[in-house]
Amino acid sequence: MRKKLKIGLFGFGCVGQGLYEVLNQSQLLDAKIEKIVVKTKGKKRAIAEENFSYIADDILEDPTINCVVELIDDANAALDIVLKAFKKGKHVVSANKKLIAENLDLLIQAAKDAGVSFVYEAAVCGSIPIIRNIEEYYNNDALSGLEGICNGTTNYILTKTGEGKSYDQALSEAQELGFAESDPTLDVDGFDAKYKLQILLKHAFGITTAPKDVFNYGIRHIKINDSNYAKEKGYRIKLFSKAHRIGPNQIAGFVAPHMIYSNHQAYHVENEFNAVVVEALFSDQQLFVGKGAGSYPTASAVLSDISALTFDYQYEYKKSKVAELPAFTNNFKVKVYVGSTNRSLIRVFPFIQRDEIFQSESYNYATGWVDFGQIRKYNFNQEESLFLAILPEPIVTLCKDESDSVSSEEFETLLEE
Ligand SMILES: NC(=O)c1ccc[n+]([C@@H]2O[C@H](COP(=O)([O-])OP(=O)(O)OC[C@H]3O[C@@H](n4cnc5c(N)ncnc54)[C@H](OP(=O)(O)O)[C@@H]3O)[C@@H](O)[C@H]2O)c1
Repeated sequence: MRKKLKIGLFGFGCVGQGLYEVLNQSQLLDAKIEKIVVKTKGKKRAIAEENFSYIADDILEDPTINCVVELIDDANAALDIVLKAFKKGKHVVSANKKLIAENLDLLIQAAKDAGVSFVYEAAVCGSIPIIRNIEEYYNNDALSGLEGICNGTTNYILTKTGEGKSYDQALSEAQELGFAESDPTLDVDGFDAKYKLQILLKHAFGITTAPKDVFNYGIRHIKINDSNYAKEKGYRIKLFSKAHRIGPNQIAGFVAPHMIYSNHQAYHVENEFNAVVVEALFSDQQLFVGKGAGSYPTASAVLSDISALTFDYQYEYKKSKVAELPAFTNNFKVKVYVGSTNRSLIRVFPFIQRDEIFQSESYNYATGWVDFGQIRKYNFNQEESLFLAILPEPIVTLCKDESDSVSSEEFETLLEE
């Protein structure tokens, strides 16, 4: 029989309020928000003040509440709330990718120990039902890789830089439209996309990663010259959260801008839209597209999780239960484009093999193969004069000799200057 849910809601911001409205409009669910806990007293709200509490225990200690929906913007406070909710035997729905990426195995174990469900479809690509599809549909099909436009802010900015706008113009526009925060660091430096990739890595390949294991490089330093290069070659630039199976049983995974041709499934996914291309052994490539953020789209994913809980749904993490788990690796080579206003940086960039170089007074670029394990050591998010993007060539296992042949001393000296 379908379970009746009595919900304790944490957070009444963009997603929390969206959920309240969406749940009120949905006639199909036997689920009711009993209490709402928020943080700031005296804040103007869309519904009457008597609906709110400021004390977490009003939900956590209420034995009649059997489901906590955690929609707050503070990952540390959320960890506390979620673990306490499990201990009290409550199921939890969350949209908090940072919380989940940083603590996934701990949370899975705590939910298991308590015999409750923990679901979080909204944490990855908002309204796109990607986690449950990977869990259920691709359960028996070996995944060879996935590429996701998992961050709408950066896709919006890259769409505009692709149309000829500068990064600063595109960012201000995104901020005016509410797609970007006043401090956009988490989005534009690829942290948000990384948290989502970590969650996908767990469901798609059974791999647990720590945020420090996964390279994230964003789009903050894209220049008009880089956009022009892409346009001339027929590319569009997309920030991908990428995972790819290489070698005997290894998974490469990282976040970086990618230059893609029009034959790529995600080429036409523009503006604030998200997309995930899943590649599997038997079903081949499939594209999921939708809104990755916003009040109602995100609330729709939370609503779907709540609905799944009424049928006692829980993730089974089937890909974690294989005899031999693949290993996460940063040991491979990729082909990159590097553009810079600094000619010397381009000349000494540590390529294993440089294919192309262009130099002028104002703009320089080079393309070639790099040892990813070496490149990921640099904090390119802080190197204003450089922009780097992955070119559309396969990720390849690295031979030991190739890695040894690269000298990076001069490059590192220049970076330090
Ligand atoms: N916005 C999106 O489109 C989107 C998409 C996907 C996932 N998410 C995730 O969804 C979650 C919520 O995002 P949001 O955009 O709705 O955030 P938001 O608009 O900033 O709202 C955050 C809410 O959390 C409440 N809050 C903060 N700390 C709290 C605490 N310790 N106890 C109780 N309430 C607390 C705030 O209370 P006050 O109202 O009193 O300040 C506010 O109501 C985040 O994890 C975010 O990453 C958001």
